[in-house]
Amino acid sequence: MSKLPKVFGFFQRKFGQLIAVVAVVVLAQIAWTTYREAPVPDLTSATAASTAGHKVDPTDNRGKPLDGLSARQLQAFEEGKVLFKKKFTVKEGLGPLFNGESCFECHGQPSNAVGGEGRDNSSTSIVNFARRIPTSPKAKKPMAEVIETLGKRDVDFFLEKGGPSLQKRSITTENPDLLPFDVQVDADMIPPNADIISPRHSPPLFGDGLIDNIADADIIANSIKQNIEHPDLAGRPISAVDRYTESPRVGRFGWKNQNVNLFNFTTGAMNIELGLTTYLSATENSSKSFGIFPKEVYQILPPGPNDKGEILVKLNYFQALLAPPKRGEITEEVKRGEKHFQDLNCAVCHQPSMVTAPNGYVVDPDSPLPNLKYLRLDALSNQKIYPYSDFLVHQMGKELADGIPQEGARGGEWRTTPLWGLRFKKFLLHDGRTQVIHDAIMFHGGQAEKSKNDYARLPKQEQDELLAFLRSL
Ligand code: HEC
Ligand code: HEC
Repeated sequence: MSKLPKVFGFFQRKFGQLIAVVAVVVLAQIAWTTYREAPVPDLTSATAASTAGHKVDPTDNRGKPLDGLSARQLQAFEEGKVLFKKKFTVKEGLGPLFNGESCFECHGQPSNAVGGEGRDNSSTSIVNFARRIPTSPKAKKPMAEVIETLGKRDVDFFLEKGGPSLQKRSITTENPDLLPFDVQVDADMIPPNADIISPRHSPPLFGDGLIDNIADADIIANSIKQNIEHPDLAGRPISAVDRYTESPRVGRFGWKNQNVNLFNFTTGAMNIELGLTTYLSATENSSKSFGIFPKEVYQILPPGPNDKGEILVKLNYFQALLAPPKRGEITEEVKRGEKHFQDLNCAVCHQPSMVTAPNGYVVDPDSPLPNLKYLRLDALSNQKIYPYSDFLVHQMGKELADGIPQEGARGGEWRTTPLWGLRFKKFLLHDGRTQVIHDAIMFHGGQAEKSKNDYARLPKQEQDELLAFLRSL
């Protein structure tokens, strides 16, 4: 009797020590794992809580190339990546006006994933500006009444004042000693009579090579299907001319589907954002009409076109081979959320999947202009992809309308934003106005008004399930 408590006490003491030791080991382990797993700080993680989790995600493949590439293909991808990150100089063709010194500057978050979105919502965005033509009947009405329907005929893009897109920087504002004081190069200014000003966020480019290879007919088919099954939600395909082949194609890039393929977008971005001219976009931007500069400016500029094509094809190749975002974890909650996504008709516009053309191609990175060659790539052909977009434009209501018509898209129309990779995105909607997915849904109007209202009426738990689904994309 008397021994038992003693023995017990002994064990109790030992047990206590054991617990203490175990606790220390466990705590140390937790501390170490947390330390090891702490995300590398980048600008995306700062506010990621609203759009994504904080843990390192094994499905995060941002900036990686497509699977199944050969050694030569990977090498060309890396060469293109170097050019995408490269800061160009005036001698190499930067400017006279520009918005960035590299593509990476605006498509660089997170910084270890080249091809990502803009790091902030001012310096890495662009601004389009215009005004209603004073003689247009739509100029006599309050803007809110006409903003959604403004078309190209109603709008003046200030081509004589540096429009349609603002270039915020110039070679002399950054290098004041480059030219004498009386021939400084003015950056664009938004004219005081501009009544349409549209900031645009820079989107991530992951998976764009696959989008490039969706057949035109399949995008048109999406519109026809919607017209039959959901006429109120039906979107429109946008037609634009391919600058290289000079033939019309179906638009799929840019916030308004204004651009038909990556090759054209890259040409445009080189010219408009960096000031690098190519055969396809050979005139320098100016704050007056295109190409209008004092002769002293031309004396210090390298001869045009700044790029004979070598840079363009390699940049294009790099972007075309960027892997699409991988799907995140699919839990039971996510599956329930997916059902709401269908029931609310989100999936009519944000169409879950498409298949790329049988002959997926990319421009040969060794075939400079004007003699482009195309390479067929298995990794781009017949691929079932999950972009969650129909690649059509929809009227999205007054709150989202910016009043800028682009190609066939009107002032209130926007391309259905692909939702793949949504969990990694920091800024949402065309102008990056919110970082909260719930708010992005609540800004939907126009053709998506009913869908939004139905979402708003869901019980909180079902809204959370829908959001969990969106955070798995
Ligand atoms: C100053 C910031 C800035 C720079 C520099 C820049 N971009 Fe962009 N990029 C944007 C913005 C903003 C958009 C959206 C434009 C729109 O649709 O109105 C965009 C859109 C794109 C798109 C279309 C993506 C899609 O899914 O629709 C591609 C492709 C692209 N950029 C490639 C490039 C390349 C290549 C370069 C370098 C030659 C470059 N960008 C330089 C800001 C920038
Ligand atoms: C009528 C077509 C349509 C319907 C229906 C629709 N959307 Fe959208 N969605 C769009 C368009 C177009 C945009 C781009 C709007 C913009 O940026 O101004 C968009 C943007 C978004 C975005 C922001 C994505 C980003 O990266 O910026 C999210 C999130 C989204 N939609 C989710 C939903 C959900 C959830 C539903 C259902 C409740 C829904 N959408 C219904 C067309 C639609």
